[in-house]
Amino acid sequence: MSKKAVVLVSRKLPQAVEERLARDYDARFNAEDKVYSSDELVKLAAGADAIIPCHTEKLSAEVIARLPSSVRAICSFSVGYDHIDLDAAKARGIFVTNTPEVLSDATAEIAVMLMLAAARRAHEGERQIRTDTWADWSATYQLGIQVTGKRLGILGMGRVGRIMARRARGFDMQIHYYNRHRLSPEVEQGAVYHDGVEGLLPHCDVLSIHCPATPETHHLVNAHRIALLPDEAIVVNTARGAVVDDDALIAALRAGKLFAAGLDVFNDEPNIDPRYRELENAFLLPHVGSATRETRDAMGFRALDNLDAIVSGGEPRDRLA
Ligand code: DGY
Repeated sequence: MSKKAVVLVSRKLPQAVEERLARDYDARFNAEDKVYSSDELVKLAAGADAIIPCHTEKLSAEVIARLPSSVRAICSFSVGYDHIDLDAAKARGIFVTNTPEVLSDATAEIAVMLMLAAARRAHEGERQIRTDTWADWSATYQLGIQVTGKRLGILGMGRVGRIMARRARGFDMQIHYYNRHRLSPEVEQGAVYHDGVEGLLPHCDVLSIHCPATPETHHLVNAHRIALLPDEAIVVNTARGAVVDDDALIAALRAGKLFAAGLDVFNDEPNIDPRYRELENAFLLPHVGSATRETRDAMGFRALDNLDAIVSGGEPRDRLA
């Protein structure tokens, strides 16, 4: 019987995924779900053939250089891969894969939730109920903004952005978008294309960010660009915190330039900029875009499909490096 490949699983994964791992691999689990430091990760990878990290593990060039030579694959439990230095992995001949497609619906659901919650000040009302401070109904109390019929600007019309557009059409929203490439008319479904971010922004009553974190998109949503949004626009981010310049967003929320923001992702998670906590007009979630039972299982199975392909000498479906 051939020896099972050794897999370091950096975080606790859903039960069904861990069961498949235990069946097919010599898996090193993280039962306490501790976030490993880089040093711990490198140490625990000794003798491992593969690592299944999440976006919480930073596999920089420096960390990849220190990985034991046994490591042949990094099959990330995430669609985003800004935590992995692909060039460094490529240079060492390490396969890298991600888990696209399977989390698009769940993430778009959270984007819709953030949009509505920010527009209707959901957390303020919720808090009143929980703290027993709801005094009475009032015709002028807690007025929000109606999104029905408004313009939704989508920054990055990939898988999640397209589903967000589809859901928003259910609210009769007019869709505008910027993408590196214009989509075909069948995929656009009447959405208005702008060939630059600056051209998109004046058309966004709501701006929803769906582009990956790359050097090109770092702090793309900055003070200059926020100024181009209509007054009292709403900003939603389910992509990556790095796309937003926190100083600029917080200043615009404080000044009332923006009506509200709905954020699921932040710079430097989980140690987010503490000023967000003080903002009544920010609806905040702890990076839960893909957090449904169905999606987290599907992400794990997709990562394992990729690993299976690599281990059996085939080509993984979601190869990045
Ligand atoms: C992803 O898959 O990139 C999500 O942000 C969760 O890690």
